[in-house]
Amino acid sequence: MSKIAIVGSGLVGRSWAISFARAGHDAFMWDQQDGAAQAAIGYIEKILPDLEANDLLRGSTPAQVLGRLHVVATVQEALDGAVYCQESTPENLEIKRAVFAMLDKAAAPETILASSTSALLPSAFSEGLAGKDRCVVAHPINPPYIIPATEVVPAPWTRPDVVQRTADMMRDIGHAPIVMGKELDGFLINRLQGALLHEAFRLVAGGYAGTEDIDICLRDGLALRWSFMGPFETIDLNAPAGVRDYVARYGGAFAKMAEGSAPIEWTGELLDKVESQRREKLPAAALAARQAWRDRRLMALAAHKQKAVKEIGG
Ligand SMILES: NC(=O)c1ccc[n+]([C@@H]2O[C@H](COP(=O)([O-])OP(=O)(O)OC[C@H]3O[C@@H](n4cnc5c(N)ncnc54)[C@H](O)[C@@H]3O)[C@@H](O)[C@H]2O)c1
Repeated sequence: MSKIAIVGSGLVGRSWAISFARAGHDAFMWDQQDGAAQAAIGYIEKILPDLEANDLLRGSTPAQVLGRLHVVATVQEALDGAVYCQESTPENLEIKRAVFAMLDKAAAPETILASSTSALLPSAFSEGLAGKDRCVVAHPINPPYIIPATEVVPAPWTRPDVVQRTADMMRDIGHAPIVMGKELDGFLINRLQGALLHEAFRLVAGGYAGTEDIDICLRDGLALRWSFMGPFETIDLNAPAGVRDYVARYGGAFAKMAEGSAPIEWTGELLDKVESQRREKLPAAALAARQAWRDRRLMALAAHKQKAVKEIGG
């Protein structure tokens, strides 16, 4: 099992630590802020029993997972002997540039330097570094210990073996890597989510539906299939002779829908409307409790999917 460096131990860094440690790796956690990595361990300790109850610890016990987590006082201690470093510092280009410059100086040449960034291109923070060819993005969806999809995004100069080893590492810890051929703003997942959100905002703006109606379309409709297959597999199975048959039957209707889909701003009266409908459904004071509810539902869904794959196949 390998040594992993976790740089930044906030919401995402501490979640990554769970993913690595339950797969048997030793995660060495460092954070610039005193006490942050220790606080992360306290947070992890609280959620491990829930993960164990849902059979999401890959056979490890909470005590074993905790035994593989180590808080270190310096970044050097985290990096020494680490095969892979997962950086999860704030989403700010200046900070990422400074952190990657520091990591590139401190880490052995063979250590992979992977960033959790949601929206910064890897070229933007690795350009000019001596070791820019070992820098890559490994972008998780929150929380990564429940949602396996992880976007692996190379800069133009990232070495193919670094991309391959990052994807292999993700598979090894039970994540589902998506390897992009080249970098692009928004990567893939947020571009897909953005397309859906744009249409949702357009429909609310036009008075065709309210926010709850749109949520039902997904929650009690499309997302039932999407929780175990993607849109391409969906359309391949939704016409007797597969995807070409589907396009022959429905392609024209979708082309017509796409007409007049102008960009829309998520601001002003439209945002007021969306917010007031959401606050009517969920008061602001209840947001945190609902986030905890979401994570429990996600765990139950992950447990169900794991069981269904074993019993029915994936
Ligand atoms: N929150 C999400 O849903 C989510 C999902 C996927 C990816 N991400 C990405 O993960 C990264 C981290 O996000 P987060 O939500 O964990 O943020 P966060 O604010 O919870 O944590 C950031 C941590 O970095 C530490 N830090 C700040 N500067 C540092 C430095 N120079 N060196 C070391 N540590 C430093 C902070 O003390 C803090 O503990 C961002 O790039 C974000 O875009 C976030």
